[in-house]
Amino acid sequence: MEKIIEDLNWRYACKQFDPNKQISENQLNTLLEALRLTPSSYGLQPWKFVVVENKDLREKLVTASWNQKQVRDASHLIVMCAPKTLDESFIDNYVSDTAKTRGQEPSDLAGFKKMLMMIPNKSVEGQAAWSKNQIYIALGNLMTTCAQMRIDTCPMEGFKPKEYDEILGLNELGLTSVLVCPVGYRSDEDKYSGLSKVRYAKDDLTIRI
Ligand SMILES: Cc1cc2nc3c(=O)[nH]c(=O)nc-3n(C[C@H](O)[C@H](O)[C@H](O)COP(=O)(O)O)c2cc1C
Repeated sequence: MEKIIEDLNWRYACKQFDPNKQISENQLNTLLEALRLTPSSYGLQPWKFVVVENKDLREKLVTASWNQKQVRDASHLIVMCAPKTLDESFIDNYVSDTAKTRGQEPSDLAGFKKMLMMIPNKSVEGQAAWSKNQIYIALGNLMTTCAQMRIDTCPMEGFKPKEYDEILGLNELGLTSVLVCPVGYRSDEDKYSGLSKVRYAKDDLTIRI
């Protein structure tokens, strides 16, 4: 069997983390680098990844997560956030960065910028939905990277974004929480780790034409 399939079978949505097991700073940096390398539509990267280690904050987040203790007990908690508004300065920033990275002038990218303005031109709801779609890609990338490193995760949308934004001071940063992913190591007592994967057969999910 290919190693990646073994890794993907190893991973599961961890419900109970071992609070005594920590990932190292090096491992955390690898995960943040994997997140940074996530592709996004037009490359616009409409996200910030907030790493919460502070235990007092994380205790408060438990109630904002329908009492799911993973957010407290995992080694680190990654809160994946979107900018509240995607305006022209957001586009300008990206165009400048692209020009700098590739040895061009921002004016060389005027046509590209014009196309990118379709994002600020969306409604606030449209922008939020678009950012959210991108952030789910980052979540998938994070989970797969963690599985390869034998680090456990629990993808989570079962939390109250407004309460998270309040507790973590995200409003002041112009951000809103979209997804949560605790990372760390499974507890020996997590009965979910031994359950068989429930997935439809490949033939039922695939159409080859
Ligand atoms: C976007 C997303 C949100 C999820 N939210 C939660 C959650 O809030 N709490 C939780 O315990 N599991 C959550 N899950 C885990 C799923 O229930 C789990 O991935 C699914 O049942 C498949 O099981 P497996 O991941 O163990 O293979 C979520 C999964 C995804 C992909």
